[in-house]
Amino acid sequence: MKWKRTHNCGALSSQNIDQHVVLMGWVASRRDHGGIIFIDLRDRWGLTQINIRPESAVYEEAKKLRNEWVVAFKGVVESRPEGMMNKNLATGEIEVLATELEVLNAASAPPFNVFAENVASEDIRLKYRYLDLRRQEMQDNLILRHRVAQLVRTYFSEQGFLEIETPFLMKSTPEGARDFLVPSRLWRGKFYALPQSPQTYKQLLMIAGFDRYFQIVRCFRDEDLRADRQPEFTQIDIEMSFVDEEDIFEIMEGLMARVLRETLDIEIERPFPRISYDEAMRQYGSDRPDLRFVLKLVDVSNIVKFSDFNILVQAVHAGKIVAGICAPGCAGYSRKQQDDLAAWARQRGASGLIAIKIGAGVLEGSAAKFFTEEQARAMIEAFDAREGDMLFICGDERDLTRQILAELRIEMAKRLGLIDEKRMSLTWVVDFPLFEWSPERDRYVALHHPFTSPLPQDEEKMTTDPEHVRARAYDLVLNGLEIAGGSIRISQQHVQQKMFEALRISPAEAESKFGFLLEALKYGAPPHGGIAFGFDRLIMVLAGCQSIRDVIAFPKTASATSLMDGAPSEVDIDQLIELGLQIKK
Ligand code: AMO
Repeated sequence: MKWKRTHNCGALSSQNIDQHVVLMGWVASRRDHGGIIFIDLRDRWGLTQINIRPESAVYEEAKKLRNEWVVAFKGVVESRPEGMMNKNLATGEIEVLATELEVLNAASAPPFNVFAENVASEDIRLKYRYLDLRRQEMQDNLILRHRVAQLVRTYFSEQGFLEIETPFLMKSTPEGARDFLVPSRLWRGKFYALPQSPQTYKQLLMIAGFDRYFQIVRCFRDEDLRADRQPEFTQIDIEMSFVDEEDIFEIMEGLMARVLRETLDIEIERPFPRISYDEAMRQYGSDRPDLRFVLKLVDVSNIVKFSDFNILVQAVHAGKIVAGICAPGCAGYSRKQQDDLAAWARQRGASGLIAIKIGAGVLEGSAAKFFTEEQARAMIEAFDAREGDMLFICGDERDLTRQILAELRIEMAKRLGLIDEKRMSLTWVVDFPLFEWSPERDRYVALHHPFTSPLPQDEEKMTTDPEHVRARAYDLVLNGLEIAGGSIRISQQHVQQKMFEALRISPAEAESKFGFLLEALKYGAPPHGGIAFGFDRLIMVLAGCQSIRDVIAFPKTASATSLMDGAPSEVDIDQLIELGLQIKK
């Protein structure tokens, strides 16, 4: 580099006219116009137009420039001619008349045009991530991510929280997702695990008396991936002492209000609404309902079972539920449209999807004949349906019916344009069950994690009636996405032991896996609780992205690989020998 840069590519305006400047950046485009060469020079801060006239000493050299070359220009800032100004560009009133040029680095032709309207396929983007990250959209996403991280730090710091780091190499304590393991060289045959979250450490920090902790921290989970999941992801992790649910809600609502105000200029109403887990499942079929629109599920088992609609009657008698949603204005759906939706539901495991049209106070279509006038009226009332609406009804096992209808609810809301994309709908989901039955493990597992406190009045039922024990756990749902989850913890050793008992973890196993925590609980554990936000998910919503990968600089694919560096990869045999490992063919 011959010169020092004086300004970045987004800095110059009409206030800099006649100044001598040095700019450095990438060639975003080169245009030849009537003998003059225009270069759009790009960096993180913006674009500046460079003007190279035929009489310029660097004219011939400038002709050779290609997209993505890295160059430095010396020149003078000039006002653009009237009519050539670009109001959409911060530097749109000026251009730099080039006097000198230094090519800092030529570039091979990129595998995709960084500036094309049509984005390249995701595989190509991930393979050449450093090029993909040059795109404005990706730069904006990462800048937003940085801003929110700083906001989070300032907010918690102001509230008396301390940011404390916790280990990445920890003891494997399987429960929840699968651990990523790291073999120990010094201790052959032994393994560290990468933390699925700093859960136990943050509780130990409360026992240590730090009172208010937070950390923006990487977590690792070897689980099946979806659009909103990554094997390594980031949490805003929080723990507080001497608190109950209300204290935690208050601080987290304050955080969300601040983040939404300072990033999207949205004033959010507080306190956030709350809905119980049971209610959410009943009304929306999901524990993370998107409440930007209504479309509630209605259980009509009690009406249908007296009708002549045999398959549905039999379903109810077999212990299934018959429920549906009312799609406004969809009575005009053609036979084909109805069949397509039924096929869509069957693909998801439903036995079918029945469509019933709503006429003027009556049911219409082939299903109408199965209902008496009174039953028809009851149906219309239950769904609060209007003429021109269409009911979509499902009759399967309770959980399946709810799951299908929850998806259908979202599908129909999208089709009908019921979702206000600008709206941020935040809701607490509370009163989760403490346990859920795991058919694979043939035992109850903790729905949140095994350190979650039961409601005091349900504590007795932990071993006798686990199904009906409610947890002091809560999730924060943003537009149908679980963006945070947490709980008030068990702070007494005997309750923690009871929890392990209920999970059928033997005292010996509990001792070997969680002995350190059980021991620590003996030495004066304050009542405590906390929560963790999925930081990537939060940024995804704020940025308006559909995939979590778009807000992570170097994400993994859906099959947990890195297309850029080829991880995971085989390792040298010597590395394996040193670790005392052998790969089974
Ligand atoms: P939980 O497992 O609910 O709680 O995780 C907290 C939040 O992290 C996000 N999240 C993920 N984001 C991306 N990819 C993933 N694979 C992934 N898994 C989870 C979600 C979720 O709400 N220790 C507890 C928190 C606590 O109790 O304080 C925990 O980890 O947005």
